[in-house]
Amino acid sequence: MKQELIDRVKNLYQEKFGNDFILIDSPGRINLIGEHTDYNEGFVFPAAIDKGIVSAIGKNNSGKCHLFSADFGIPFEFSPKEVKPLPNGEWRNYVLGVVGELEKKGIQVPAFNFVFAGDIPQGAGLSSSAALENSVVFGLNELFNLGLSKRDMIFISQKAEHNYVGVRCGIMDQYASMFGEEDKAVLLDCRTLESKLFPLEFENHQLVLINTNVSHKLVEAEYNDRRDVCEKVASLLKVGFLRDASEASLMTIKNLLTEEEYQKALYIIQENERVLMAGKALNDGNIEEFGKLLFKAHLGAQHQFKISCVELDYLVEEARQNPNIIGSRMMGGGFGGCTINIVKKESVKQFTEDIAKAYKNKFDRNCSIYFVKISQGTHLIKN
Ligand code: GLA
Repeated sequence: MKQELIDRVKNLYQEKFGNDFILIDSPGRINLIGEHTDYNEGFVFPAAIDKGIVSAIGKNNSGKCHLFSADFGIPFEFSPKEVKPLPNGEWRNYVLGVVGELEKKGIQVPAFNFVFAGDIPQGAGLSSSAALENSVVFGLNELFNLGLSKRDMIFISQKAEHNYVGVRCGIMDQYASMFGEEDKAVLLDCRTLESKLFPLEFENHQLVLINTNVSHKLVEAEYNDRRDVCEKVASLLKVGFLRDASEASLMTIKNLLTEEEYQKALYIIQENERVLMAGKALNDGNIEEFGKLLFKAHLGAQHQFKISCVELDYLVEEARQNPNIIGSRMMGGGFGGCTINIVKKESVKQFTEDIAKAYKNKFDRNCSIYFVKISQGTHLIKN
């Protein structure tokens, strides 16, 4: 699959721009547990996957950048000297954003050609956007020897998302996509960027993703709204971020908050604790406990932080009823996308067949099942 994608991008680049280019593989990510904790300077537990963006990038002397999205069949041209976000710019804004943010840092980007294609379904919550941003910044850094560290690069990708796409995201997606390692999940402290790698091989269980194939409206506005609530509560608590809050300290300002705000902040405090407990459970080889934490995380996302939707809730509820599924929850920003499930190996086939049928009956739409391999972060592909 990956090789096909690589060949497609390579051939397209050659057809359009010639033979002088480098190839980059930039993965999407899953997240075991810890949603919306990243922008609260808390903890997350992601891993890079074998689905992502493959791109080819090379220099040109025309003074213009030429982009081509192989999946949409759409070309786009811009001058790297006049970069601004486009209304409804979609994928273009991720590329423009990276160039624009490099320029803010005083790095004038010369003209380049860029062709890309991906195998991450959009809106699935697997961070195709971070994969694209990282592939651009990583590619430009290689091509023009910009001297950026991986750490510099992920912050540029994140700023591109804030300022050109309008989502005030945390650092999880860009970090996981850039720093991921094969067969390892990363327990990341989003304040210090200290990370601990966990081998992700379950003896008797398998990770299964189920895509609801829905992406509800206003996701960006809802996302930013959650961030605003967290910031408001942190400021009332006189701390920088909810990472520094506890259930006890939150109680002291409860009368200043609506019930909704209180529950949202409480969710963040508890979700941070769950991530740390999940790390401990994996360390202890206690996969059952790990699974329980996932179910709890979903309830928090559904009832407290309110980022779920009926399709996600349905999938998790079905999983909860099934003794062969030891953990399940919605994954990513919310309002659609995938659930992540921990399924007994011998039951995977039956479970996925049953859930696909049940979902179709319930919503008159198909879900999609993915099996992912935990893979290396953004890197050059030997050409
Ligand atoms: C999106 C954002 C991340 C993170 C998750 C929720 O994927 O890009 O920064 O906040 O949502 O955990």
